[in-house]
Amino acid sequence: MNIHIPRGTEDLLPEQTKTWQIIEDTLKQLSERYHYHEIRTPMFERTELFQRGVGDTTDIVQKEMYTFTDRGGRSLTLRPEGTASVARSYVQNKMHGNPEQPTKLYYLGPMFRYERPQQGRTRQFTQFGIEAIGSADPAIDAEVIAFAMDCYQDLGLKSLKLVLNSLGDHESREAHRQALVDHFKPHEDELCSDCQMRLEQNPLRLLDCKVDQDHPSMQNAPSILDYLNDYSQQYFNDVKKHLDAMGIDYVVDDALVRGLDYYTHTAFEIMSEADGFGSITTLSGGGRYNGLIQDIGGPEISGIGFALSIERLIMALEAEGINLDSEDELDCYVITMGDEAKFAGSKLVYQLRKAGFIVDQDYLDKKMKTQFKAADRYQASYAIVIGESEVEQGVANIKRLEDGEQKTIAIDEVKAQIEQGL
Ligand code: HAM
Repeated sequence: MNIHIPRGTEDLLPEQTKTWQIIEDTLKQLSERYHYHEIRTPMFERTELFQRGVGDTTDIVQKEMYTFTDRGGRSLTLRPEGTASVARSYVQNKMHGNPEQPTKLYYLGPMFRYERPQQGRTRQFTQFGIEAIGSADPAIDAEVIAFAMDCYQDLGLKSLKLVLNSLGDHESREAHRQALVDHFKPHEDELCSDCQMRLEQNPLRLLDCKVDQDHPSMQNAPSILDYLNDYSQQYFNDVKKHLDAMGIDYVVDDALVRGLDYYTHTAFEIMSEADGFGSITTLSGGGRYNGLIQDIGGPEISGIGFALSIERLIMALEAEGINLDSEDELDCYVITMGDEAKFAGSKLVYQLRKAGFIVDQDYLDKKMKTQFKAADRYQASYAIVIGESEVEQGVANIKRLEDGEQKTIAIDEVKAQIEQGL
C-alpha cells in the first residue's frame, strides 16, 4: 500500500520553494527595516501554556490542538500559534530587563491546528509573525499594522482591506460581557450547544460563531464600541490618528473579535479583496494583549503583534496574478565527452562554483547534442566544452550561448575569462 501525506498537510516541491524563499527573504528584510529581531521557540510547548495563553474557551484550545502525552507522562502540544510561545520565552528569559524596550521580535515557522482542511486552511501552516512587547503606546499599534500591510504591499499586492476594532480594556470588556449576557440570555434555547456554553464562559466568542452567525439576535448584538471607557476610547482614537497620519486606510468593524482570548484594545485583520481569492478572505490578524504576559506568570507588561500565513499570502499572489518566481538560470553548463574529459570537467565545475558561479554538468553520459540542449534549457550564459583533444591540449572551448561567440583557451584561464566576459 502506498503511504500518503497526512490530511491537511502539503509537500512543497522545488518549483514552489523558490517562491517561498523569495517571500521569506522579503519578510526578513522588512523585519530589519522595522528593527525586529528573530526569535525561534520550540515546535511544542507544555499544553498549559496554550490553555492559559490562548484561552480555555477558544476553538483553538477546545477543538484544534495536537496534544499528546510524552513518554515521561507530560502533556505537550504542537504550537497552534506563536504569540503564547514568544510571551513564555520573554518571561523565562527575563527580556523585560533588557535595556532596549519595547522588545521587538519576529518568527517564522510551522504551526499546527486540527481544522477541517479546505482551501486556505491546513493542519500544518507556516506563520510569519511579529510581537512588540513592553510598550502601551498607540504609535506601536500603528507600527505593527503598517508592518503587516507592508508584508503584502512589498510583494506587489493591491486588493487589500484593513479591518480595525477595539476590544477595550478589562473594565470595558466586563461591561460589554454583561451586555452580551443580557442580550443573548432570552435566546439561549435557540442557540447551538457551543454558544450555550459560550454564554456562560465567554460570551464574546458568540459573535464569532459560524453556526449561529445568521441568527436574528446576532444582528443587533451589543457593540463593544458602545462600552469603551474613556481610556479605551482615547487609545482607539489615537491608534486611528496615527494610521491617518501615515495615510493607511482602514474600516472599523465592531464585529471583529478575533478567535483568541488574549486580545485587549486594538484588534485587526487584513483581508484580500481579489476576485477568485476563495471563501476564506482573511490574510492575517493581530492585536494588543495587555494581560497575556501576566496570565502566564510574568510581570504586568503589555504587547501587540500579528501573524500571517504564507499559504494564504501565496493564494493572494495567485489571485492577483503576481508571479515572483525567477527562471532557473545557470552561468555555465560544462559539456564533456570521454572519460578523461569528465575528470577535467569535474575539476572545472568545482573551481567555477568556488568562484561563485551557478554551474552544472551532465551526469547521465548524454550525447554532446543533448548536453547542449540541457545548456539551453537551463538558460546558461556559457557552454564550456571539453572533449578528448581539448584534454590533451589542456584547453576548453567557451561558447556564449546568446550570440554563438566562442573561443578556445587554456583550461586554467576559463575562470578568469568568465569573470571578464568573453
Ligand atoms: P490567528 O488569527 O489565529 O492569529 O492566525 C493568524 C493567521 O494565521 C491567519 O490570519 C491566517 O493567515 C493564518 N492561519 C491560521 N490558521 C490557519 C490554517 N489552518 N491554515 C492556514 N493559515 C492559517 C494568531 O495566530 C495570533 N497569534 C496572531 C497574533 C500575533 N496576535 C498577536 N500577535
